[in-house]
Amino acid sequence: MGSSLPRVVRTRAELRAALAAAPRPVGLVPTMGALHEGHASLIRRAASQNETVVVTIFVNPLQFNEKSDFEKYPRDEAADLRLAGAAGASLVWIPTVEDVYPAGFQTSVRVSGLTEPLEGAARPGHFEGVTTIVAILLGLAGAERAYFGQKDAQQLLVVRRMAGDLGIGTEIVACPIVREPDGLALSSRNVRLTPEQRAAAPVLRRALLAARARFESGERDGDLLRGAMSELLAVEPLAAPEYVSCADPGTLAELTTVGGPALLSMAVRFGAVRLIDNEPLP
Ligand code: PAF
Repeated sequence: MGSSLPRVVRTRAELRAALAAAPRPVGLVPTMGALHEGHASLIRRAASQNETVVVTIFVNPLQFNEKSDFEKYPRDEAADLRLAGAAGASLVWIPTVEDVYPAGFQTSVRVSGLTEPLEGAARPGHFEGVTTIVAILLGLAGAERAYFGQKDAQQLLVVRRMAGDLGIGTEIVACPIVREPDGLALSSRNVRLTPEQRAAAPVLRRALLAARARFESGERDGDLLRGAMSELLAVEPLAAPEYVSCADPGTLAELTTVGGPALLSMAVRFGAVRLIDNEPLP
């Protein structure tokens, strides 16, 4: 792992040419930039398992259901390149919208079922945007492995389903959530929190841990576990919960009774900033 700046390519053709000459195996880390320690952990993991690590930086307009969220999404190419290089990236693809979706582009990739609850219900069209861009990235890179964070647990499930259904040979590798010392999951959106919202935001983690504690003391009723999260969130006046969930980790169907593994998850707004977090059970 070096700390020199990685090579930057911008067009589809440049990416293909760079990859044709690159040592295998190739690990792909798709991102929307505004890289933080969570992304660094994905890049480091990729560097530990592959000869070449390709990071893609593309704020994908298709997956934003709110125009203002897309416009306000933080962008800092120079800082991203420094972080990617220090974490072990060899190549960074930074395309324009026209490189990714050239004139005449008419394709969309949609996974049904898994994309309907939770983030899918709250953000219509979001997952279709994600699966369309990820299918393009997996197709262009032809990587042996691609790395995704567990923080976006539903995205991970949906991408796995898509890759399996379409027979894409890239192994989808899940990487653990990276947190601030106070428990807040790292997210590119955290920089948009006001100091007061930032101080309040660890309530997501506390709510997940409250439900985990109830589970560990024997509670198996899905409503009561969801209630434990809602109660904690209600104590924080700056937090506006969108959903809390205790679901089957394979199907994301809400559980009446937890009889095996489960996924606790939530989306909470702090003003205009929407944060998500999750905790697997047991
Ligand atoms: O998780 C993200 O940052 C994005 O959804 C991804 C996977 C890079 C696709 O744009």
